[in-house]
Amino acid sequence: MWTNFTNDIKYKINKQKVENPVLHTVLKWLLIILIIILIILLVLFILLFIVLPIVFAFCIALQRLCVFWNIEEPKDPQFEHPEKYGYQGVKNFYITSTVSSDNTKPISIGAWWVPQENYINSTETMEKILANSSYPVVLYNHGVKATRIIRFPYVFGTLRKFFHIVAIDYRSYGDSDSIDLTEDGVVIDVVNTYNLMKTKTKADIFIWGHSLGGGISTHAAKWLKDEQNEIIPGLVIESSFSCLRDEIYQFFLTQIFKWLPWFDWCVTNPIYNNGFLFNTMENTQQVDCPIMMMHSADDPIIPYF
Ligand SMILES: *[C@@H]1O[C@H](CO)[C@@H](O)[C@H](O)[C@H]1NC(C)=O
Ligand SMILES: *[C@@H]1O[C@H](CO)[C@@H](O)[C@H](O)[C@H]1NC(C)=O
Repeated sequence: MWTNFTNDIKYKINKQKVENPVLHTVLKWLLIILIIILIILLVLFILLFIVLPIVFAFCIALQRLCVFWNIEEPKDPQFEHPEKYGYQGVKNFYITSTVSSDNTKPISIGAWWVPQENYINSTETMEKILANSSYPVVLYNHGVKATRIIRFPYVFGTLRKFFHIVAIDYRSYGDSDSIDLTEDGVVIDVVNTYNLMKTKTKADIFIWGHSLGGGISTHAAKWLKDEQNEIIPGLVIESSFSCLRDEIYQFFLTQIFKWLPWFDWCVTNPIYNNGFLFNTMENTQQVDCPIMMMHSADDPIIPYF
């Protein structure tokens, strides 16, 4: 009985092998396709998780782009014509900055003068208004993927009820001169703007920074204190991060990379070693001025904590 049964099975299996060449071919092709898919996945893995990080580690231009993300926003910006965006009384002007603290070659950076609301219809120049107005000034520093245009009406619209605003585009943003972006470079742009405004008004000048601009603003406040012994009247840090390294770990795009054992070697260390620190946490302890920090609890880019 048992022998019959096993023989019967053997017979059936053999019969299947012989009688099912189609199944055999299908299996063969499935195997080939599987191997091809595995090879493609392996190549993709190597490109994405090995080649790309290594290229990133050695390409400072790529790091710079990822840190500053200075792409035009909005498209075809009309800096000279704020009225095209419906912004009343806003005037475009340019500020002279310098390449670095050792290189005094002048560079031009774009700025907007946003007078306090009562001066919306004024035909006076910025200089005249500032000389005779008691309104304090906010020096506004935007974050990445931005220009001085985009913070209207949400921020400037509200701020101008209480302050005059000067909003700049750092080097390589907006219509400012293109100079390789460094942390010190953008800080110098803010410092030069502060010093210029200081010659035009006796009123308080607050430095306000959004996101990466918060890191730049804090560093600028520290710079003014260290280099010029100038304690600014107040610093506002809006939706910023503790330091760039912390933010890199939290940023959504880095989530797919940060498990790599070579992540620090390829990403965070090169960025740090190339001087992109934005260590706001440390700098806030050295500015000696009142600081206001604001952050939305549901911020998806820079987490509240
Ligand atoms: C500016 O001019 C507009 C239109 O003439 C007027 O409605 C507005 O009240 C003026 N604003 C100020 C602050 O004078
Ligand atoms: C400031 O106001 C005073 C008096 O109101 C005036 O005499 C002076 O010319 C004004 N200065 C400027 C720069 O407008």
